[in-house]
Amino acid sequence: MRLGIISALAEEQQGLIEALQSPARHFHGMREYTAGKLWEIDAVCVLSRIGKVAAAMTATTLVEKFGVTHIIFTGVAGSGDKNVQVGDMVVAESLIQHDFDASPLFPQFEIPLTGLSSFATDVALTDRLAAAAAPIARVHRGLIASGDQFIGKLTQILALKTALPDVLAVEMEGAAVAQVCFELGIPFAVIRTISDNANDDAAVDFMHFIKTVASRYAFAVIENFCKA
Ligand code: ADE
Repeated sequence: MRLGIISALAEEQQGLIEALQSPARHFHGMREYTAGKLWEIDAVCVLSRIGKVAAAMTATTLVEKFGVTHIIFTGVAGSGDKNVQVGDMVVAESLIQHDFDASPLFPQFEIPLTGLSSFATDVALTDRLAAAAAPIARVHRGLIASGDQFIGKLTQILALKTALPDVLAVEMEGAAVAQVCFELGIPFAVIRTISDNANDDAAVDFMHFIKTVASRYAFAVIENFCKA
């Protein structure tokens, strides 16, 4: 296994770069890829920057240029469900691009020419990630929705839930990584710590969470994952 580890923001990946043994830095396409050993696992860590295009480019580069065989995305998300609280973690079983709509040519949410509206994560990687998170936080498994929008208004999250009632969390990258990995045949998994409730308080809660807790959670999960 050569594991690609992606986060959107530095706060979501703090500590991991320092934990890499024999780190080798490579700059490519406005990103810094750091390769090395993470608790015996051959790994490449990178910040994708924000949004679906940024994430898709990063995932593709990890596979095509850095030869990763598996990808994990760790970061934060807004809650999409009343049972999913700030500080909980959501491990994706599938991901959907909630802002994709090529109707009437294709059904809303369907990615043209794949026949799919959501992409399933790799079961083995997802089980291992959920097991790694279990000692750290309450873990939920299910659907994560991604789009090129920060969901920071109650009306936005309510509309999204009306269209997609099963969504547990909302973020801006996971489903793009999912599509790239599906198309390239790369097993992948996504874990998100809930930073906010995707409502009118979301922006303030998000900023506070990423400054205070996000990195500790991501670091602990990846450490448990690699040591397992
Ligand atoms: N990431 C963390 N919180 C989010 C939100 N409310 N909307 C989109 N992405 C997020």
